[in-house]
Amino acid sequence: MTMRAELEKHYTERHDEATRLGSTIKGRLELARVQDLLSRYLPPPPATVADIGGGPGTHASWLKGRGYGVELIDPVERHVDQAVAAGISAVQGDARRLPWDNGEFDAAFLAGPMYHLPDAAERRLALREAIRVTKLGGFVAVVAINRSANLIGSTLANTLLERQGVVTEILRDGFSPRNDRMAHTTYHTVAQLRSELTGAGLRAVTIHGLTGPGGWLTVMIDAHYRGLPLPDSLQEPDPLRTALECSRLADSYPELVQASSLLLAVGQVD
Ligand SMILES: C[S@@+](CC[C@H](N)C(=O)[O-])C[C@H]1O[C@@H](n2cnc3c(N)ncnc32)[C@H](O)[C@@H]1O
Repeated sequence: MTMRAELEKHYTERHDEATRLGSTIKGRLELARVQDLLSRYLPPPPATVADIGGGPGTHASWLKGRGYGVELIDPVERHVDQAVAAGISAVQGDARRLPWDNGEFDAAFLAGPMYHLPDAAERRLALREAIRVTKLGGFVAVVAINRSANLIGSTLANTLLERQGVVTEILRDGFSPRNDRMAHTTYHTVAQLRSELTGAGLRAVTIHGLTGPGGWLTVMIDAHYRGLPLPDSLQEPDPLRTALECSRLADSYPELVQASSLLLAVGQVD
């Protein structure tokens, strides 16, 4: 199956992206942390943001609700339809060839293309396009998946022994053709992500632990209690608050970025 067909099939038939960030505690942590971290960089509304690979528009809706001007692009028809139905200005298209003018946005946000484009040259094209459409002095923020995410996730879920081959390949190569998620998913090391952003021309690159070490608690809860009542010790205090506090505390310690399954890298356009 071609990469494009695999992407379309995954997001149309196998996976409901519209509910991902609201239906699990891991998703709710990711959502809260995207909002935390983007808020640090965004100029005040009505600044403009390009949401590249914006999916059904969860982040775009939040930005729009805060008064930002948002344009979303995504290759999956279902996602564009969902975003439009949510009142977002959205078009079908690809991060590697954006339909916008030079310097049209104050910021660009790519949460998708870095892990869905398996070839480094294609990721560079996507980054160069994001830089092109962003004003001088603006920022480009990208989400990537840490190479250690599968090791951490499958250990916490106690499925490492059955997934060991795939986990080992991802740790070693950054992808696995046997990946049960999606064969073409790309996983970054922190150093690789930094070098891809600086290599594309971004300055002052900072890499944040998006879900952070607090994400471990959420992965563990989702893996073992999905659909089940939580024991008292996992109800009070709210484990989402604990996870958020953990990841916020970890933000001051760059060495703890390595403990995060999702990474958010930000660089400036100059
Ligand atoms: C996991 S979803 C994330 C959606 C949204 N950005 C979020 O963070 O909630 C990844 C998205 O990246 C999109 N995507 C994959 N390849 C892309 C490409 N080459 N250009 C633009 N978007 C792409 C997918 O269609 C999908 O909507």
